[in-house]
Amino acid sequence: MGDKILVAYFSAETGRTRKAAEGIAKLTGGDIFEIKPVEEYTKSDINWKNPFSRCNKEKIGKKDVPVSGKIENFGSL
Ligand SMILES: Cc1cc2nc3c(=O)[nH]c(=O)nc-3n(C[C@H](O)[C@H](O)[C@H](O)COP(=O)(O)O)c2cc1C
Repeated sequence: MGDKILVAYFSAETGRTRKAAEGIAKLTGGDIFEIKPVEEYTKSDINWKNPFSRCNKEKIGKKDVPVSGKIENFGSL
């Protein structure tokens, strides 16, 4: 049985990452999973140029961000 491929992505604003993930999933025949935070990001939350924005606080604080949804049968992948 061939290896199973999962393309998991988080696309915050422009959809570029989503397009890239969809392209990779299409090329590889992989399953695709969108990572959606339980608490949605506002525009200022994802302002990565602002050191005090939520995204930077989470990155620096190494905070695990709760995500909604789950990958079915992840263990059997
Ligand atoms: C949390 C966050 C961090 C980012 N950090 C960088 C960075 O370090 N350097 C950079 O060139 N762009 C950075 N960007 C810009 C993204 O790479 C760019 O906006 C991309 O198009 C996002 O695609 P998306 O909207 O599909 O997620 C960041 C964007 C976000 C949301």
